[in-house]
Amino acid sequence: MRLDKFLANAGMTRSQAKQAVKSGRVTVDGVPAKDASAHIDENARVLVDGLNTRLPGHRYIMLNKPAGVVTANTDGRFRTVFDVLPVDMRVKGLSAVGRLDRDTTGLLLFTTDGELAHRLISPGRDVEKVYIADVDAPLDDECVKIMAKGVRLKDFIAKPAKLDIISSQRAIITVTQGKYHQVKRMFAALGRNVTALKRLSVAGISLDESLDPGQARELTRDEISGLYKAVGLRGMPDE
Ligand code: URA
Repeated sequence: MRLDKFLANAGMTRSQAKQAVKSGRVTVDGVPAKDASAHIDENARVLVDGLNTRLPGHRYIMLNKPAGVVTANTDGRFRTVFDVLPVDMRVKGLSAVGRLDRDTTGLLLFTTDGELAHRLISPGRDVEKVYIADVDAPLDDECVKIMAKGVRLKDFIAKPAKLDIISSQRAIITVTQGKYHQVKRMFAALGRNVTALKRLSVAGISLDESLDPGQARELTRDEISGLYKAVGLRGMPDE
């Protein structure tokens, strides 16, 4: 297969692929690629910017979502998470996996892999999401107990959540649901308002803290494989 075709299958346009090769960002089996039209083995290890992540056919991306942008494809009023992604990551068919509120920061995954995305957000799978939350009043053991039992909200009882208090008004909370304003509503039910919320991990994949807010990177092969395992998908998408 031609290298530019391989890269195109992985989500780049032909001209992005050519440009990436020309500027020395692509290696094939450890050797810098010189010619985008060169023929390569379909099983070659192709790295772009040193990352072995662009599996043919699908893209897997993490964004450190900044505050102030909405999780939507388009919005009349606010910038969206897609406006924040680098242009060469805004490929056809890419969707955000779940959503974060406009003021929530941290880990937001994107993929073109519909089956994986579907499983990650599917209510029945209890995929763990970990957040760090600042609240406006001190937390105590009673909060931990109530969260562990399942907080009663207006329209449903939230699934049990793990609360680790790390300082008087700051905690790590692990939830397995992703309903609208879920975490904020759970704290509100305990009489605490969330003043800052950041997602640290989803399905065991942690936010890469070297990413500044607004920065994104492709997931590594290990991270993708971790997501596959977490949702009961066998093998890797290119195997
Ligand atoms: N829970 C919330 O309340 N907001 C988010 O953005 C994510 C989880």
